[in-house]
Amino acid sequence: PLARRWEDKLVDRLLSDDAFKTQVFRLVDVYPALRSTPDRFDHLDSYLNVEAAPKLVRMGLRLAAASTLGRRSAVRILDASISRMARRFIAGSTPDEALPTLRTLWTEGTAPILDLLGEVTVTDRDADRYGTRVEEYLTAVASEMASWDSQAHLRGDHHGSLPRLSVAIKPTALSARYHPLSGETGVTEAAGRIRPILRAAIKHDAFVWFDMEYFAVRDMTVRLFKMLLGEPEFASVNAGIVVQAYLRDSMDQLNDIVDFARGHSHPIGVRLVKGAYWDTETVEAAAHGWPSPVYSEKVETDMNFEACTGVLNRAYQVLRPAYASHNLRSVAHAIADARAQGLPENALEFQMLYGMGDDLRRATNKLGLRTRFYAPVGELIPGMAYLVRRLLENTSNESFLRQSRSHEELSELLAAPRPRIAHD
Ligand code: FAD
Ligand code: 2OP
Repeated sequence: PLARRWEDKLVDRLLSDDAFKTQVFRLVDVYPALRSTPDRFDHLDSYLNVEAAPKLVRMGLRLAAASTLGRRSAVRILDASISRMARRFIAGSTPDEALPTLRTLWTEGTAPILDLLGEVTVTDRDADRYGTRVEEYLTAVASEMASWDSQAHLRGDHHGSLPRLSVAIKPTALSARYHPLSGETGVTEAAGRIRPILRAAIKHDAFVWFDMEYFAVRDMTVRLFKMLLGEPEFASVNAGIVVQAYLRDSMDQLNDIVDFARGHSHPIGVRLVKGAYWDTETVEAAAHGWPSPVYSEKVETDMNFEACTGVLNRAYQVLRPAYASHNLRSVAHAIADARAQGLPENALEFQMLYGMGDDLRRATNKLGLRTRFYAPVGELIPGMAYLVRRLLENTSNESFLRQSRSHEELSELLAAPRPRIAHD
């Protein structure tokens, strides 16, 4: 943990300049696709040897450029940094590689949500392959986990028993036409590839989360989820959907899902998150001159997350509330609100991402609260978009994890989110 803290501080310092940070992200995005060392060095040099770069980086690059050995060493350092980042946020390149980690965390009392890295597929073949792999991975990991020790608190909630394994799927990986302009085709194709996954989930006892991606496909994913769960074959499959509190209309979406849950015979999972595509949504809306679907102030998202928490907790009798956040205040508020409403403690689930919020995970474990961690598995290239989102989150000035590294004041970190401009 000490080494991790040092690394975080170093990264914070290196990325404190926004212009330089943008260059780093551009480099990280293309880098794994570059094969040769000279190609890698050229990109490294042209992206990072810029005015905004810290002096040390520019000096190092100038020195490296002077010799073949220097260029090779610079590439080796960057390769090692990217692999370290990947190892921090990705549980393994295959399920076999990830299993020892999953098992250790299970022994500590945390269950995995297996995620096969990949999104925004552009060919039918890739979409087919992604679907088949999810099914294979689900089957392999569920069979392995069946023999693990019992961990009773992970195995049930106020509605009854819960599977050991959860998996997460990204609908944009399951159809090459998952876009509003080809909406119905996208939904139909994705549904066709999700049905076998749901059948495998029933057979091997797993929970399936439909991850929520960027806003343009949000309504499609809601339709897809409701359509599949409406099919008699899947009426009692264990599945869940996500609400992103950074969306201005997320409360309406949440109320709509609560209504759906009331009419559905089996409790569905609802994962409340803040939203992982803030930068994309903001830039995209500005580029088109559209009103942004996301809040512009972090505090608005935090306040809305708490407002949604109230609604979600109150609906616990018809659904399974899950809070996915690394923010101590957001999580503590969800617990306090649930206690004030008299919810049984096992009604709530907490979810964190692999490589993030380890302290918080240990704390929720200690309190006996059911906690799962999102465990991405796969290769670097399909995982790059995921890694860039994690890097953006970890280095954003607004990020709770980053703030908790710099201010130590607990009372400040736990303070209720309030609008910056006071209204009379
Ligand atoms: P905090 O630091 O408290 O919040 C950071 C978040 O605040 C940002 O991610 C962003 O949403 C918001 N924010 C930042 N700056 C601003 C601003 N200027 N104005 C308004 N809002 C701002 N995300 C998805 O989109 N879909 C998913 O399916 C999904 N699944 C997840 C599953 C798990 C298990 C977890 C832990 C997270 C998941 N996320 C998902 C990611 C989540 O949305 C957040 O990006 C991440 O958890 C950071 O939020 P936080 O509460 O931990 O941290
Ligand atoms: C993401 O892929 C965790 O779903 C979230 O960023």
